[in-house]
Amino acid sequence: MVVKDNYSLREHNTFGIEAKASRFFEYTSVDELQEFVRERAASGDESPLLHIGGGSNLLFLNDFDGTVLHSRIDTITVVDDSDDTLIVRVGAGILWDAWVQYAVDHRWYGLENLSLIPGEVGASAVQNIGAYGSEAKDFIVDVEAVNLQTGEATLFSNEDCKYGYRDSAFKHDLKGLYAVTHVHFRLSHVFCPHIDYGGIRKALAERAINESELSAQQLRQVIIEIRKSKLPEPSELGNAGSFFTNPIVAREVFEAIFRRYPTMPHFDIDDEHVKIPAGWMIEQCGWKGKDLGRAGVYEKQALVLVNRGGATGNDIKTLCEHIQSDVKAEFGIEIVPEVNFIC
Ligand code: EPU
Repeated sequence: MVVKDNYSLREHNTFGIEAKASRFFEYTSVDELQEFVRERAASGDESPLLHIGGGSNLLFLNDFDGTVLHSRIDTITVVDDSDDTLIVRVGAGILWDAWVQYAVDHRWYGLENLSLIPGEVGASAVQNIGAYGSEAKDFIVDVEAVNLQTGEATLFSNEDCKYGYRDSAFKHDLKGLYAVTHVHFRLSHVFCPHIDYGGIRKALAERAINESELSAQQLRQVIIEIRKSKLPEPSELGNAGSFFTNPIVAREVFEAIFRRYPTMPHFDIDDEHVKIPAGWMIEQCGWKGKDLGRAGVYEKQALVLVNRGGATGNDIKTLCEHIQSDVKAEFGIEIVPEVNFIC
């Protein structure tokens, strides 16, 4: 267990924003977390609590006047193993990509397309992280969590978590009430690659990799290379991946825009809804590669806002607001940050 006062969160947010927490509490087991919660309740402490993961989806606007919690629970245990699939219980504090690497190394298949997503396992179950046609929810069976008011441990089923696009009950009804401690994933002993999305097939062809001989390690490597070519490394350029979610709009709204922009990329959700890439709209508004003070829009992917060096959370927020207002003026669509603003 680690407890620190007046602690810098700079290493705990991938934007690299300087912000301090009045208190920082890092635990390595469910028992340690429960003890913290019970002691806090007994002392009548009602100061704010913020549970962070890898800090890859956070924007600190101020210092945090309360306790920041962070998990270092790092166990990986097979809890069920049948002919074709297995269920693995994974500690919330493990880096997401270390878990994907571990699974691929053990020939447990399914997570390859989610390679190199920043963040930790616990946050994957809150945010329903996704990329290249896969989402965490496709693999999550159950989520173990501790109630931050009572210390009671609860098991949520996949259905209880009400997963949607980058969304779950942990962002709504259960917001701030639970800390995820372990996630149970169902993986497969049989490798079934998903290569129909986001230029994977093209990348395989460029590398002369035959689809019928593709291994999970190779698919993981290709995904890593595609991501690296589009997304900046937080250690080199502070960022939080996609800053906005892609809006899902009514088909009539889409059609009106499509008449003006017949080459607009889009994805059908159902008969009535269409998803429009926010990155494309931001690019049409002329923001790609542009800066506003110390905050900027990444030159290779307009959905990514970056810290050009020394930006504050408010610098990034100001840029966000300019972009939102331009997208609204041009397309009539409100784009919503995927990143959580911490006041
Ligand atoms: N596009 C542009 N200009 C841009 C960016 C994108 O025209 O500056 C166009 C692309 O050409 C493409 C479409 O928009 O036709 C979609 O772009 P892309 O495939 O790059 O994906 P995205 O929708 O921008 C989403 C996820 C990413 C994930 C990729 C790949 C969200 C909010 N983002 O981005 O997730 O890696 O798909 O699957 O859904 C993240 O959440 O942090 C993240 C990086």
